[in-house]
Amino acid sequence: MLHPITLLLVTFWSVPSLATSRIRLPVVGSNPSDVAITSMSLTDQRRVDPFTKDGRARRIMVSGFSPVSVCRHSHLEAYMPPSTANFEDEKFAAYGLPNGTSQSLGLKGCTANGAPRYCSSKTLPLVLFSGALGTSRTIYHSMLQSVAAAGYFVVSVDHPYDADIVEFPNGTIITGVDINDAELDDALTTRVEDIAFLYQELAKPSLRTQLFPMHRHSGNLPKTAIIGHSFGGATAAAALQQLSYIRGGVNIDGTMFGSVLRTGLNRPFMLIGHENKTQETDPSWKTVWPQLKGWKKEVEVKGAAHYSFSDLPLITSVLGLQDKLPAEVEQVLGSIEGYRMMKLTVAYVTAFLNMALKSGSEGDFVRADTEFSEVVEVS
Ligand SMILES: *[C@@H]1O[C@H](CO)[C@@H](O)[C@H](O)[C@H]1NC(C)=O
Ligand SMILES: *[C@@H]1O[C@H](CO)[C@@H](O)[C@H](O)[C@H]1NC(C)=O
Ligand SMILES: *[C@@H]1O[C@H](CO)[C@@H](O)[C@H](O)[C@H]1NC(C)=O
Repeated sequence: MLHPITLLLVTFWSVPSLATSRIRLPVVGSNPSDVAITSMSLTDQRRVDPFTKDGRARRIMVSGFSPVSVCRHSHLEAYMPPSTANFEDEKFAAYGLPNGTSQSLGLKGCTANGAPRYCSSKTLPLVLFSGALGTSRTIYHSMLQSVAAAGYFVVSVDHPYDADIVEFPNGTIITGVDINDAELDDALTTRVEDIAFLYQELAKPSLRTQLFPMHRHSGNLPKTAIIGHSFGGATAAAALQQLSYIRGGVNIDGTMFGSVLRTGLNRPFMLIGHENKTQETDPSWKTVWPQLKGWKKEVEVKGAAHYSFSDLPLITSVLGLQDKLPAEVEQVLGSIEGYRMMKLTVAYVTAFLNMALKSGSEGDFVRADTEFSEVVEVS
């Protein structure tokens, strides 16, 4: 079952008016770096967009996050571009979030002005991220900033027509279309093609210089993993199966589809589920589990709901709204305090990445298990 953000019918209540200055979403993790944030559109001239039916080339939007060890100038980066912010505010009004919320938020971005000062010549591993169906990539950007701050190049991707809204740098907007169950396989194929195209583009050092501006880039691509939420988790599994250069993947709370259910995977793969989403309740997880031949782990997060694994709980917490929202919101955002929930997600995702792309050791899982008693190891 998919969980597009459910529109809850709730009465609007009075919420504090938002200040005009931006509110910064915090970076979490032990000893996080500053992060440079970029975004750009990419056009795949070799592929017709399957959603448009007018023969135009497929375009995607991506954001890049890269750690900066010595940041000389920083600024508050808008959390979302303006039309996206208005669009998401209308959507999140159903959660009781006040109009203006999205525009009021910012991320601390390290400013790459003047001649670049290379903070490191060391090549960092690369992490690709794909989000839920009908969901903007931007509502994961606080989480992805924290993953980058732990020492990764991170790229988030919007899959146009599948995402609720994609805003290009020139102001062009593509809003989402309804994708029914029969169309999911095709949508998944398009997402994997988007990922393959993105990886091919990233192989160009010039492109990496644009996305991760404070680092020196050359030669081959670094070790790469993919993580995804919901349908993005299914995308992570499918991309891992089809693209041999991806070393490992994390499926956060996503039901799986397609040939991966039959063929399985032979590289490291982790499943993270919200409360009661496990192999016992999701047949696709049960089917794929014995087919996972590499390192594998499945955890269940008690108190988490489907959109706990986005920035939304942290946002409600930072705005002081978490206890003021309608009770139904808990079914979507869970009951774990937002800052803690963000620390939890980042801790488990980076524990996986450190194991799969860096140390090979599972030590960070041991530390995370000690800190987060909500997390139960299922398998
Ligand atoms: C929210 O605020 C924007 C910008 O001020 C405005 O255009 C829009 O109509 C408002 N939406 C609602 C539902 O009040
Ligand atoms: C805006 O950018 C998109 C993505 O690159 C492109 O397809 C579109 O033609 C551009 N629109 C205008 C008006 O330039
Ligand atoms: C999870 O399942 C248990 C046992 O069936 C139930 O008591 C609990 O309410 C469920 N939790 C959620 C969030 O549905």
